[in-house]
Amino acid sequence: MKNIILLGPPGAGKGTQAKRLEEARGMVQLSTGDMLKEAIAKGTDLGRRVEGIMARGELVTDEIVIGLIEARMSDGARGGFIFDGFPRTLKQADALGELLSRTGQSLDAVIEMQVDDAALVARVTGRFTCGNCGAVYHDVTHPTRVAGVCDACGSTNMKRRADDNEETLKTRLMEYYKKTSPLIGYYHAKGQLSAVDGLADVEVVADAIAKVLDKG
Ligand code: AP5
Repeated sequence: MKNIILLGPPGAGKGTQAKRLEEARGMVQLSTGDMLKEAIAKGTDLGRRVEGIMARGELVTDEIVIGLIEARMSDGARGGFIFDGFPRTLKQADALGELLSRTGQSLDAVIEMQVDDAALVARVTGRFTCGNCGAVYHDVTHPTRVAGVCDACGSTNMKRRADDNEETLKTRLMEYYKKTSPLIGYYHAKGQLSAVDGLADVEVVADAIAKVLDKG
C-alpha cells in the first residue's frame, strides 16, 4: 500500500493521473476540489460558504479541507490514498502528517508535476468533465470519441468549471505560487519529493509516476 501526494499547479494533470492510478492500482483518490464542488452541487451549507471563494480562484480555509480529508481517511483505502489538491498550505501539510501518524500510516511519495504557465491556460480553458463519472477530457488533446458522449460511461452530461477561465486562472496560479509552492521545499527537505515532467503525453507522465511508486 502506498499513500502519495500529487502536487502541482491548476491544470497540471493531477486529476487525470489520479483517476488512472485508481484504475491501475486500486488506490483511492482524495480530491478536496472535487469534495468542495460536490458540496456546491448539492447546495449544502458548506457549498454555500465556499462557492464564491472558489469562483474567485482563492483557497478555502485550512480547517474546512483538513476536516474533509480527516472524514474521508477514516474509511481507509487498501490500495493507498492519492491526495490530489491537498495539502495546499504548510498548515495542511503538517495536519496530513499528524493524521497519517495518528492512524499508523506513512507518506510514501510526493510527486511534483512540473508544467509551465503557458500550457496551463490552454489546459484549463479546454477542459470538460463527465458529470456522471468524473472522467476528464480536453477539447483538443483528449476529446471524447463521440462528441458529447463520455467514453467511460456513455453519459451525455458534460460539464465545464466556473473557475476554468483565463482571468480566474491568474488568481489560482498566484495562490499556488504564494501558498502551495513552499511545499516543494518542505517535502524535498524530508527526502520525499520526486518531480515528473507534466508537459509530456498523459501515458509518459503515467509511466514516470509508476516508476516513482515502484521504486521504494
Ligand atoms: P481543484 O479542483 O483541486 O483544482 P486545481 O488544483 O486548480 O486543479 P485542477 O483540477 O484545475 O487541475 P488538475 O491538475 O487536476 O488537472 P486535470 O487532470 O484536470 O481546486 C479547485 C478549488 O477548490 C481551488 O481553487 C480552491 O478554491 C479549492 N480547494 C481545493 N482544494 C483545496 C485545499 N486543499 N485548500 C484550499 N482550497 C482548496 O487536467 C487539466 C486538463 O489538461 C484536462 O483537460 C486534461 O485532459 C488535460 N491534460 C491532463 N494531463 C495532460 C497531459 N499530460 N497532456 C495534455 N493534456 C493533459
